[in-house]
Formats: sequence, C-alpha cells, structure tokens
Amino acid sequence: MCGIVGFTGRHQAAPILLDGLEKLEYRGYDSAGIAVAQGGAAASGAEGAGAASVRGAQSVSRQTVGAGQPKGVSEGGTEPSIEIVKAKGRLKVLREMTDDGRSVPGTCGIGHTRWATHGEPSVVNSHPHYAKNKRVAVVHNGIIENYQEIRDRLTKEGFSFISATDTETVAHLLDKYYAGNPIEAISRVMFRVRGSYALGILFADRPGEIYAVRKDSPLIVGRSDQGNFIASDVPAILRYTRDVCFIPNLEIVKLTDREIHFYNVDQEEVEETFSQVNWDTEAAEKGGFAHFMLKEIYEQPKAVRDTVSPRISEGHVNLEELGMSQEDLAKVSRIQMVACGSAYHVCMTAKYMVEQTARVPVDVDLASEFRYRNPVMEKDTLVVVVSQSGETADSLAALREAKKLGYRVLGIVNVVGSSIAREADSVFYTWAGPEISVATTKAYSTQLAAVYLLAIGLGRAKGMIDGAAEEEMTAELLRLPEKIERILEEKERIQWFANKFSHSKDIFFIGRGLDYASSLEGSLKLKEISYIHSEAYAAGELKHGTISLIEDGILVVGVATQKSLFEKLISNMVEVKSRGAYVLGVTSYGNYSMEDVANYTIYVPKTMECFAASLTVVPLQLLAYYVALGKGLDVDKPRNLAKSVTVE
Ligand code: AGP
Repeated sequence: MCGIVGFTGRHQAAPILLDGLEKLEYRGYDSAGIAVAQGGAAASGAEGAGAASVRGAQSVSRQTVGAGQPKGVSEGGTEPSIEIVKAKGRLKVLREMTDDGRSVPGTCGIGHTRWATHGEPSVVNSHPHYAKNKRVAVVHNGIIENYQEIRDRLTKEGFSFISATDTETVAHLLDKYYAGNPIEAISRVMFRVRGSYALGILFADRPGEIYAVRKDSPLIVGRSDQGNFIASDVPAILRYTRDVCFIPNLEIVKLTDREIHFYNVDQEEVEETFSQVNWDTEAAEKGGFAHFMLKEIYEQPKAVRDTVSPRISEGHVNLEELGMSQEDLAKVSRIQMVACGSAYHVCMTAKYMVEQTARVPVDVDLASEFRYRNPVMEKDTLVVVVSQSGETADSLAALREAKKLGYRVLGIVNVVGSSIAREADSVFYTWAGPEISVATTKAYSTQLAAVYLLAIGLGRAKGMIDGAAEEEMTAELLRLPEKIERILEEKERIQWFANKFSHSKDIFFIGRGLDYASSLEGSLKLKEISYIHSEAYAAGELKHGTISLIEDGILVVGVATQKSLFEKLISNMVEVKSRGAYVLGVTSYGNYSMEDVANYTIYVPKTMECFAASLTVVPLQLLAYYVALGKGLDVDKPRNLAKSVTVE
C-alpha cells in the first residue's frame, strides 16, 4: 500500500504535497518523492506568489516564485519541465531536502510515500517514476502483475529502466503511447497492464494539469476554490477540502486548477458526483474505522488477493521469485519453520497443510528456542523464517543460526528490504501493506496464503499433486478473499456475542489438527488486546489435566472445520459443557450438528479443509477486537507490547 497526493491550483504545490503525504505515512513510509511542473502557467503561480493560506488550513509558508528557481528554469513561459525530488527514509528527509517544499516552486504537482513491494526501499525505487527526459512522471499505488513481461518487451524496444519497480513500466508505457492526448495514452495503458493501480500523472508539456486513473486501488478527487486535489485517502486533503469524489473504478480524471473532468476507458467524458466528508482527521487516517486493527481486519480480502493473484497464472503457482528451480524444490527433504507469536501460529498451520499437500515433514520451532538448541537437521532441510516486520530479534537470530549451520533459508516477510528479507537466501514477500496495529491480522492472513502457495509449489515439484489438483487448489485460493468478505458481513453477530464476554476472567480455545493452530492464534489475539487470561489446547489434551480448570460459565471456543476430526471435537465440547462451560462453536456452513452442543455458533463459508484457517481466524480476530473494545481498552496499542520486538 502506498500514499498518493496531487494538487493543482493557485498556491505553491510542494508544501501542500508534503502535508498530504504526512497524513498518508500510515500507508507506507520507506521512501517518498514529489514531482512539480515547471514552466508555463504552473511555475508562474500568478496567484501562488507570496504567502498562501489555503482555505481551512494553516498558511502554507511564504515564498516568492522565481527566487531559487531550479537550475535551467526561469520564471514564466519557458520550456515546461518536471522537477522531481525523491528521498529514502521517512518523509522528514524529503522535507529537509526541499526546505519544506520551498525549494521546489510550482503550483501543480504529485507526491508519493512508498511501501515497497517491487524493489527495495531506495531513492531510485522511490516514486515519482519517469520516462526518459522526464516527459512523463507517475506515482502509483498497487501492483502491476504483468510488469516483468512489459518490461522485457519495452527493453527490446529500446527503453532503459533504472529501477526495480513495477511502476517504472507504467511511466515508459505512458511515454510510448503519449502523442499529445493524455486521455488516449492513459486509456491504452489501462488495456495493456494487469493488476491494481491508482496513478497520479504529470505530462511535462501540460503544466498545470494532473491526470489520474484507478483500478482496484483507492483514489479520490477533492475540489476547492483554491485548487483541486487527488489523494489515496481522505486524510491527505481533509485540511483543505471536504468536497470529494471517490473515483469509480476504471475512470480517468483530468484536473486543472479550476476544472475536473472524468472519462471512462473509452475516453468518453462522464459526469461524477461529489460528496461532503464529515470525518475528523484522526478518524480519517483510519479510513473511517475506529481502530487500525479493525481497518486491517477489513483489508484482509485485498491483502490476500494482492499476495496470491500475482503468483498464480492459468491455474499454476509461480514460485520463481524464490530463485529455486523445480529440482531444488524437489530436493527439499524437510522443512524447519521458525517464528514468534502469531507468525509461529502460521508455522503450526503450515505443518498440517504442507504435510498434507506436499508430504514433506515439517518441524516447527519458536525462534527463541531454535536459536539456542543447537538444532540437528537433515542435509536438505529448508529453513523457513516467517515474520511480518522482518526485524524480530529472535527470528533474525534463528535465521543467522541456520545459515551458520549451512542451511538454505527462505524468509516469508511483509516489510521489503527488512533484515530478514535481506539476509535470507530466498524471500517470499507478503503484500499486506503496512500493518499499524500491534495485533497482527492482515499480515497473518497473507502469511497463511504464502504458505499455501509454497505447499502447492512443493507438492507439484515433488509430484505429490497433479495439475488438476493444483488448478483446483489455486482456484479456491483465488476465492478466499470473497469468502473472507462474507464473514466480515456478519460482524454484528460476533460483536453482540463478544459483548456478553467482555468481563470474563478466563477464556479457552480448543481445536484439532490445523484448527488447533487457529485456536492458538485466536487465544493470542484475545490475550494481547483484552488482557483476559486465555489458553488454547489441542482438544485431545483436555483430559490430561486442563479440564480441571473448567467451571460454570467459563467460555470455551471450539474450532472445528476438519471433517475427520469433527465428531471428536464435538465430544470434547460436550465434555467441557457438561462441566459448566459456555461453548462457542466456530465451524463451516453445513456442519449444523454443531448447534446440538454449542450454545452459540459462528459459521464460515466452506472451503478446502487445508485453507480453513484463513476463514476461521477472521471471527476469532473480531471476537478479540470486540471483547477488548467492550473493556474500553486501547486496541491498537495494547499495554507492554510493541509492533516489532527487535530486542531479545
Ligand atoms: C501478534 O499479534 C503479535 N503482535 C506478535 O505475536 C507478533 O506476531 C510477533 O512478535 C512476531 O512478529 P513478526 O511477525 O514481525 O516477526
């Protein structure tokens, strides 16, 4: 996820762009950049000279257009060009480089704050990207899935690339198709690329004009009597205007300082309506959600889709990015998974799923244990380290231990360019985007998706599944996002139930097989944000001591999606219920016999059993969220915890 902002109007653009990017740093913050039109009306800033106070905002700092003009550009109608300034690191680096925008004059520009997906965080990979001689500058939020094929084709046509990003292909395509008609050029790009995008575009020979287009990634237009805006999200422009239009999918927008025009992909002008946004700025940063955690729970369908779909083509899983040939994959004799916290629960799920799919034995270790136990592993063991942040000290130490012992390490990581990503021999990025809430949700779901893809790729390489099975599994993987969406539509039922148990002292989770792994995750989510004592047990373990803890009214959550284990889990629920427990069942639609024993049942859509964890985790996340909310706790920043544990 990245943040885009654009302004064209009667004030200096750069300070406004920087303000907007600051409000979008929650969408990404590993690098940032701005592009400001020079020359023509945009640079004269006829009304932009001098102090500027944009309506409803603190005044943008005083500046006199002309003084400090970038080299080669003087005031007034000279050869128009685009001034681009980019910086690695947080936005403050770009602010310092541009003297808070004062050193980049001009009244029309676009800006970007990056969350790296393709290409590590660096100046050259940061946006805006541009074609040769900067005829075109573009900022992008999303993933161009067929960027490699386009890049190869353009390279053959003589285009030269300087970055490792997917976005740069868009800049060159625009340059290739632009022959004086921006809408036509953009429309042709829309037909050429596959994936998700929100684009902000400047054409050097059209100073004062901003073009934008979106497909699946968010983008809004804002209008005011001081100028017009584009932004990935409302917070970026809320201090300047509340009059916004959420651009419909596959529409192109042209903005000048006084006009806004919308076009469909066939280049026909269309009318769109604007609405008033009544969020306060803080709520706006959470996209209108009360907490980042809830926002990120709701981002799971998109996060899973962004992680899965670029790796599946025509029913096949493509793991080329691992740099492991089919022979390398076939040689893997054992997998040793290592992680902490929720990422460890992903590894627990992987054990069941990978062993069932690829028939490769999987060992799972807590990183804090693995790093000190002087592990004994088979020669062709693949060590897999799972980490959202890529900076967890124990997981990084475990990676280094494995490499020191001579093993190949694969990192499943969400933060591009993080330590684990850099030090692993292969890295499989999850594309969840920045996860702000301490309690992981969307990153967890994308890690599960990554493990599924790995299992299928391994299974194929080892001949454990055939093409038909692969196609069936990949088709179901592509349906998981919509199934998660269906669960989210039921949130009120879960919220109602959670409110009944906000004051519990102990809550237990039980499950069998990969439902046990989901129980572990449900229990951790609850503990870490509600501070209620909770434990998860392999349901078969109850009779070995734990059941003595069951008293009248204690909530026990039973997770049951595995057909072969369903009846056994039901009997475990009968055991605890007969001792006074209140039982919540979480199962797939169709398993209605759950209601014969559970006091309350939450159903999730049916899916292939090996993918069930991706669905059962959603009600468990919502249960934890609403229990904590019912206790009036700070859900996003629970006590004693940090988002990334970079110390032992
Ligand atoms: C999960 O909700 C917790 N925030 C925590 O257990 C987390 O999963 C763990 O610290 C591992 O973090 P990582 O994925 O960044 O390595």
